[in-house]
Amino acid sequence: MGKVILEVRDLKTKYVTRFHEDVYAVDGVSFKIEEGKSLGVAGESGCGKSTLALSMMGYYFPPLHYMSGDIIIDGKNISGMDPDTVRKTILGTEIAYIPQAAMNALNPTRRIIRFIEDVVRVHDPKATSKEIRDMAESRFAELGLPADVLDKYAVELSGGMKQRTVIAVSTILSPKVLIADEPSSALDVTSQKMVIKMMKGMMEKGMSVPCFSLPTSCRCFTT
Ligand SMILES: Nc1ncnc2c1ncn2[C@@H]1O[C@H](COP(=O)(O)OP(=O)(O)OP(=O)(O)O)[C@@H](O)[C@H]1O
Ligand SMILES: [Mg+2]
Repeated sequence: MGKVILEVRDLKTKYVTRFHEDVYAVDGVSFKIEEGKSLGVAGESGCGKSTLALSMMGYYFPPLHYMSGDIIIDGKNISGMDPDTVRKTILGTEIAYIPQAAMNALNPTRRIIRFIEDVVRVHDPKATSKEIRDMAESRFAELGLPADVLDKYAVELSGGMKQRTVIAVSTILSPKVLIADEPSSALDVTSQKMVIKMMKGMMEKGMSVPCFSLPTSCRCFTT
């Protein structure tokens, strides 16, 4: 058995609605993922896949609340950590998340490079614009995205291109774990193929440029 990179133990989380009702969307989930492996989560609509994806990042804000259980990423237990610490020390580097319908997640008033600057500067506030651009251009090239996308607005990109851009932005810091919530289901068949190819490439690529191209070592897809 390889090294376990992510372990979730008896995780319980709930939504508290504005009518103060509890919705127990993740109720005692446990699994382990080894480095370099992937795990698929399948289930009917409303069964809690997206909530599990959100919950396993350890980043909670209302109406979602942590109740109990452990989330252990690369040996570090992040359950119960305060959201600001999770944002600054875990998100992007240890674990990254591609939301369901990610293509709609990009603010249309900002150029793509600005999102990358935001992500990088949370972890490295002194990074210069030139350093970030160099990093982004290499990463985009690795993932088969043209560099000119960096200067575009989301509205100038096709659906498939937006989805691939979100994946590239989310993984810019080479996280150890990538959670992808239905990464291809909103796309046409051609775009689906490109997204899957891109994600497979990320799984296979390994370390072409060590400081920012370490492989994402495990992924969790929901279908
Ligand atoms: N903000 C919320 N407040 C209260 N209940 C919620 C909230 N978001 C989701 N739920 C409920 O939590 C349950 C799980 O929802 P979730 O979105 O995780 O399902 P899913 O398996 O991802 O569904 P789909 O396949 O349609 O994306 C559902 O019963 C849903 O109604
Ligand atoms: Mg969902």
